[in-house]
Amino acid sequence: MIKTILLKNRPEGKPTTSNFELVKEDIELTISEGELLLETAYVSVDPYLRGRMSDAKSYIPSFELNKPIQSGVIAKVIASKNENFETGDFVLGMLPWKTKQVATGEGLMKIDGSKAPLSAYLGILGMTGLTAYLGLNQIGKPVAGETLVVSGAAGAVGSVVGQIGKILGLTVIGIAGTDEKIDLLKTKFGFDAGINYNTSKDIRADIAKAAPNGVDIYFDNVGGPISDAVLFNINRFARMIICGAISVYNAKELPKSISVQPFLIKNSALMQGFIVSNYEDKFTEAMNQLSGWLDEGKLTYTETIVEGFDNIPTAFINLFEGKNKGKMIVKI
Ligand SMILES: NC(=O)c1ccc[n+]([C@@H]2O[C@H](COP(=O)([O-])OP(=O)(O)OC[C@H]3O[C@@H](n4cnc5c(N)ncnc54)[C@H](OP(=O)(O)O)[C@@H]3O)[C@@H](O)[C@H]2O)c1
Repeated sequence: MIKTILLKNRPEGKPTTSNFELVKEDIELTISEGELLLETAYVSVDPYLRGRMSDAKSYIPSFELNKPIQSGVIAKVIASKNENFETGDFVLGMLPWKTKQVATGEGLMKIDGSKAPLSAYLGILGMTGLTAYLGLNQIGKPVAGETLVVSGAAGAVGSVVGQIGKILGLTVIGIAGTDEKIDLLKTKFGFDAGINYNTSKDIRADIAKAAPNGVDIYFDNVGGPISDAVLFNINRFARMIICGAISVYNAKELPKSISVQPFLIKNSALMQGFIVSNYEDKFTEAMNQLSGWLDEGKLTYTETIVEGFDNIPTAFINLFEGKNKGKMIVKI
């Protein structure tokens, strides 16, 4: 039996399981010349998928209603009539949420499970690791001795940004949603300080206390009031890397934010959004550096692994509840 998850209707506000439909089909898949048969092993759930579930125009097309949702998937080749792939290979690609499927091989990359656990290719050695490395270096242009603040710090991107910051000689402060996550930032990922935004009475003051020399680089994963509080603490020539805005992805109305212009003018500061694919020409260099640091033990990572194909929608929804530490992945 083959299972598929479709987008049944577009979420309004926070997604719920009623936005998705699980379809079961009793069919036998066969492959033609040039094709391969894939069995899904791991599925990545990511906050950006929320944007694709709406019909607003963006940098990537919306998902169509009653069609399978797609994300980063690791699959095992279980039959192949394509000379580039053998039975038993594992591949990574943007694939539909299906337990089994036929593919042409186009857009699929073979991955080596002996170099790193397969799931790492969805996180630290995949899209979120590249986002952390390239956003911080290309826009943040870090200089040893500077102070970096990271929001969404205990997540897939944030936890890697902070560690790279430490490797590059920065003072690193993380903002996250629970005391357990703050503890993880300091004990596992080497952050210098952490702020729990859910218990802080005054985030602006807590950032000032944790960063007595001011903030030179802000890696923003969340947007909203947390990012407003950082603005009050930026230094002259600060760089703000706008990677994500999860705090407003489910907003039904335009969020009210403070005016950033006076902060940028007064501090000659830079605020720049980006999409990791802007830096596709630097993926190989970034990947070599990330895997090198991983091999040397300078980088580490955490995953939250949810088991079972049927639980993909819940794992996705739980990103908005902060239920993950590090990369949220579904193991099939
Ligand atoms: N620009 C790009 O190319 C690119 C690429 C990848 C990811 N991103 C963006 O980067 C951000 C992080 O992605 P990720 O994959 O690493 O996800 P993630 O951080 O692993 O997971 C999402 C986290 O966001 C936090 N969160 C949820 N609601 C929040 C709210 N209202 N306010 C503050 N924090 C909230 C939760 O942690 P807490 O417990 O701390 O709240 C949750 O664990 C996302 O915004 C994503 O869209 C951008």
